[in-house]
Amino acid sequence: MAEYWNIDPARQSLVDEFFAQKPEPEVSLDFNIPEKDFNNAGKGSAEVKNLLKRLGIDPEILRRIAVASYEAEINVAAHSVGGKMISNIYDDLIHIRFEDHGPGIADIEQAMIPGFSTADDLVREMGFGAGLGLPNIKKNSDMLHIDSERGKNTVLELIVFFS
Ligand SMILES: Nc1ncnc2c1ncn2[C@@H]1O[C@H](COP(=O)(O)OP(=O)(O)O)[C@@H](O)[C@H]1O
Ligand SMILES: [Mg+2]
Repeated sequence: MAEYWNIDPARQSLVDEFFAQKPEPEVSLDFNIPEKDFNNAGKGSAEVKNLLKRLGIDPEILRRIAVASYEAEINVAAHSVGGKMISNIYDDLIHIRFEDHGPGIADIEQAMIPGFSTADDLVREMGFGAGLGLPNIKKNSDMLHIDSERGKNTVLELIVFFS
């Protein structure tokens, strides 16, 4: 399977509306995510978190956004040859899109299983590779969409509503 969707049923119509309208964001933040750069990986999600905190987003919602975006950012650094993170903030939600340059995910359903990991020794030495990132992104987002296959780039996008 090359595409994966998980949408909170209560948010389905709002998510459909979002993709149909593709509105202009209030604020947009872009970060590069270089391969295996664990000194900087996580900075994009930290800055987004700080900005949302200043905007007064509810702490529990802020926590969900921080967890989901951090895990997705680390995955690009740990498992791809590098990519970027594009965060678009609207009145009512944040949409974050992670795009990398491959090598892709062979089986997304398998990658979603808690504990599944292909992390190499370097990534494990850095303390990653528990296989809980994707399940945590799913748990903490209102919408998760992954488009990938082996030999392709991976696009992961998520939405979290502010209320
Ligand atoms: N951007 C990506 N590019 C390639 N493979 C990925 C990417 N993100 C996740 N994966 C694959 O999905 C697996 C599970 O991811 P995750 O649940 O975050 O666990 P972990 O990062 O600890 O391995 C990874 O081990 C990897 O095989
Ligand atoms: Mg991970």
